[in-house]
Amino acid sequence: MVRARILGTGRYAPAKVVSNEDLSKTIDTTDEWIYSRTGIKTRHIAAEGEQTSDLAVAAAKNALEMAGKKASDLDLIVVGTISSDLHMPSCAVYVQAKLGAKCPAFDVSAACAGSIYGLSIAEQFVSTGAKKCVLVIGVELLSRLVDWKDRNTCVLFGDAAGAMIVGPSNDDRRGILSTHLHADGNVADILTIPAGGSVHPITAQAVEQGLQYIKMNGREVYKVAVRSLEEVVREALAANKMSVSDVTHVVPHQANIRIIDTVLERLEIPREKAILNIDRYGNTSSASVPITLDEGVRGGRIREGDVVAMMAIGAGMAWGSALVRW
Ligand code: UT7
Repeated sequence: MVRARILGTGRYAPAKVVSNEDLSKTIDTTDEWIYSRTGIKTRHIAAEGEQTSDLAVAAAKNALEMAGKKASDLDLIVVGTISSDLHMPSCAVYVQAKLGAKCPAFDVSAACAGSIYGLSIAEQFVSTGAKKCVLVIGVELLSRLVDWKDRNTCVLFGDAAGAMIVGPSNDDRRGILSTHLHADGNVADILTIPAGGSVHPITAQAVEQGLQYIKMNGREVYKVAVRSLEEVVREALAANKMSVSDVTHVVPHQANIRIIDTVLERLEIPREKAILNIDRYGNTSSASVPITLDEGVRGGRIREGDVVAMMAIGAGMAWGSALVRW
């Protein structure tokens, strides 16, 4: 078995930035409510005509460049998304075509945990030697899946893409130390998009009821998130015989600053160790972890030898962690 390593990272967010004040002009909300409950100030929203795969490709190009790789080097593309260009085929095939790559490509449906699931898949392929250059993307264009009249959800999400290139490490001490994945379908109902599948095919009636939009029981999601994220980080540390003090940086899924703070508090990890950007992006679901990682790397915070703990949870519920020595 070879150690897999993240060789490059990249991110992209659409140019348009929408502030809480902007939202308060069209729905019954305030900057105070949004910021105090979530930590969000602004989010990026894709332009008309800009598609999920466009965001993904922009992030992928940056990651390829950092890794010193070309699209023709890719031998697998894994895209974590629940907001693909079309319901079928996958977002990954559009990414493949737009990059000019020739490799197999598929999507992973694990909502906000999509990029950690994707990273884990890449790790398995690379560590067995089956693949040598895997592109993992987390991308969402949730602004087209939220009901802009539902203040419970529309203030939370943003559009963005993050990418990682995974390949064999030439130094066994550096790379992905472990990935841990979990899911609990017993609580699937607390975060769904009801229409568009076999339960509610898209009909005029379904659309009239707004079933094509994200529905969330925020409080229940919050409870499961806090518990599961703490557990999965502890699991990663235990598997590597490490303690919380060994962690140099936490790269969390940014859904709500209060979730992040509570998890850090329970783990007894100081907040300064977390790389945070929820104020600028909102919840970008599967894109959240890779864009945060990329900000940490390009901003010079994450350096060679640092231990980075990534964690994410989303609809499913599905969650996971990745522990990496950079
Ligand atoms: O990526 C994973 C997916 N999502 C998450 O991780 C989200 C997890 N959950 C959360 O982040 C929080 O539960 C929310 C931020 C969604 C909500 O915060 P909360 O403290 O749980 O608020 P709440 O649901 O208890 O709502 C309190 C009140 C309600 O009014 P009433 O019924 O008490 O009169 C809501 O109607 O706040 C109201 N409200 C708003 N008010 C102003 C809900 N949304 C808004 C809004 N502006 N945008």
